[in-house]
Amino acid sequence: MILEANEDNIQKAAKLIQSGEIVSFPTETVYGLGGNALNENAVKKIFELKQRPSNNPLIVHVSDFSEISTVAEIPSPGKARDRLFKLSSFWPGPLTIILKKDPSVSNLISANLDTIGIRIPNHPFALALIKSAKCPIVAPSANPSNSLSPTSAAHVHDAFGDKLKMVIDGGNCKYGLESTVVNILEDDVVIYRPGAITKEEIEKCLDEKVKVLDEANGGKNKPSPGLLEKHYSPKTKLLFSENCNFDDLEKYEKIGRIRFKTFNDDDVFQNYPFILDISLSDKGNFEEIARNLFAALHSADNHDLDLILIDSCKEEGLGAAIMNRLKRAIQ
Ligand code: TXA
Ligand code: MG
Repeated sequence: MILEANEDNIQKAAKLIQSGEIVSFPTETVYGLGGNALNENAVKKIFELKQRPSNNPLIVHVSDFSEISTVAEIPSPGKARDRLFKLSSFWPGPLTIILKKDPSVSNLISANLDTIGIRIPNHPFALALIKSAKCPIVAPSANPSNSLSPTSAAHVHDAFGDKLKMVIDGGNCKYGLESTVVNILEDDVVIYRPGAITKEEIEKCLDEKVKVLDEANGGKNKPSPGLLEKHYSPKTKLLFSENCNFDDLEKYEKIGRIRFKTFNDDDVFQNYPFILDISLSDKGNFEEIARNLFAALHSADNHDLDLILIDSCKEEGLGAAIMNRLKRAIQ
């Protein structure tokens, strides 16, 4: 059931979470599927609902820095501790920091790793929910494993229907892409998943170079399966427009187009009569592209198309996160 985000419904959602139920709530990145991190049955339910492999760990959401020590170790004085305190300036916000897990936390959450991802979301309803439930909340994106992430309450409802007791509707998500996941524990700082907080911003904040997972280990020894496999995929075949020519298009009947900007003189397909034609941004603004990306893919999926042609962009700043999601959707 989709319910408006008001004080009453947040209290109801908090009660459901306390009793071990799962509710979906908005964050500034994407909608989450939330459950009490201290209740193993709730954690199990999330894995079942999402059909998520048990070796893919969940992020724990707290509402304040002081709550971190209930689920993770604050590193002792040294590099990791300095980095944690510096990066906490992005909280509340779209950043997940990998820390050593507190032994009391269920191994289901961490998928048997000795680390845990922590995030303080920057959304009034998400924060109010965590505070009212009085427990840390595990929340993966509210989509079946590997499919498109939800950026509206309707996306969540379409995916889970009555299997979910409650979806709190907070409108469309501000960023539209999942949080940046960063490991600060090793010699090198490594971005496991690019997101709204960019590599450039993290480097500036830490005053050191950071690596991105692919660069860091050539894609091997991935720390968690959710990070590199095919993921975020629409049901419809998706291709980058730059990799296609007119002959390729002849193989398909119903073709949709997702543009990064409305008019692009370099686009050979600018005037092609696509059945569905969506511009994510008038002028190719990365924030707008990110915000509208998953909604456009959801919409294209609902049009019974044979192919979606999508633009690509430079992998710089937020462009790195946009291309990370698209490359993994196309893989
Ligand atoms: O923006 C977000 O982070 C959203 C909202 C709801 O907060 N949540 C989200 O969760 O995207 P999820 O489960 O869909 O993605 C979490 C990612 C997965 O790729 C997982 O592999 C990685 O974070 N992850 C979680 N804990 C980890 C750990 N201890 N080590 C390495 N990767 C981890
Ligand atoms: Mg996800």
